[in-house]
Amino acid sequence: MKINGISYRSLWRPSDDASSIRIFDQTRFPWAVELLELRDVDGVAEAITSMQVRGAPLIGAVAAYGLVFALQDDASDDALDKAATFLVATRPTAINLRWAIERMVKHLKAVSEAGRVAAGYAEADAICDEDVQVNESIGRHGLELIREIWERKGRQGQVNLLTHCNAGWIATVDWGTALAPIYMAHDEGIPVHVWVDETRPRNQGSLLTAWELGSHGVPHTVIADNAGGHYMQAGHVDMVIVGTDRVTAQGDVANKIGTYLKALAAHDNNVPFWVALPSSTIDWRVRDGVKEIPIEERSPDEVLFMTGLDSQGDASRVRIAPLGSPAANPAFDVTPARLVTGLITERGRCEASEAGLRSLFPDTP
Ligand code: MRU
Repeated sequence: MKINGISYRSLWRPSDDASSIRIFDQTRFPWAVELLELRDVDGVAEAITSMQVRGAPLIGAVAAYGLVFALQDDASDDALDKAATFLVATRPTAINLRWAIERMVKHLKAVSEAGRVAAGYAEADAICDEDVQVNESIGRHGLELIREIWERKGRQGQVNLLTHCNAGWIATVDWGTALAPIYMAHDEGIPVHVWVDETRPRNQGSLLTAWELGSHGVPHTVIADNAGGHYMQAGHVDMVIVGTDRVTAQGDVANKIGTYLKALAAHDNNVPFWVALPSSTIDWRVRDGVKEIPIEERSPDEVLFMTGLDSQGDASRVRIAPLGSPAANPAFDVTPARLVTGLITERGRCEASEAGLRSLFPDTP
């Protein structure tokens, strides 16, 4: 995707410094576009935990390079296992992280120690390239849905979508998941408008999704997290579309905190609620998402403080709760499959159920 007319991926290996990677520091968007150079495993772990890099598919891809960095001095099985455990623990809910690390470890254990760094870079590069292709396919399948809505509306007015958090190109290597169909619909000339949930407490909606959509020229409106139900009742939402950090074998969906409430409101108002995901987000080992998916608990400060722009254009923090009041900060919640209209994957759409997922992925053990 483009920033100021220049095409970027959200992660790349510069040709003149190919043993490092570049990412955007996502804690600086939209105030500034700043690159971060990563070349060791600790730097990668820190970028993931601080959320300088975020979004389930992207943290998986970045962690894959982190594993290679860890092998530069010691490429033994022990070093590989240790680095893998370290990286997987950086964020517990997004399964793409574990998926990428397990793929890398399996691949590298079949290679001699001497060849592991080179093989690691090649495999991490492949993960990135595949992510781009997969998201493009998700975009095409999701675009069909938006087209159907547009046709049903007799090509009148606009298609109103609502999204939560940021599942756009900066959350993946490129395109995004939930936003990919929206970009494609806009590019094809379908008049889309997106209600963007602010997504407290870290405001990925108002800071990141609004910035992405605005940069691409997609009409959008930032709304308070609590406003979505109201707009659904008023008939102003044709479809909810979100990304996800983990989908279970029975189709339960973990995503940014607040997603579940949007699904409940959508269900009550007969608004279709779709979830876009690459197959690397499916955790075939768990079924009941509410009971089995670990939910990341983040710092209470993310709830107790808000970050905004001061008059100089610098980010500043203000406290929004009394001194001494504690806060709790679960970063994700689980939407049960029964509230999900369907899943959009790189292989097409399916019902959010074991049968639905198996119909698209019969080859997965
Ligand atoms: O905590 P974050 O910002 O990493 O959470 C991101 C989300 O919840 C996204 O919706 C999800 O990872 C899908 S990204 C394609």
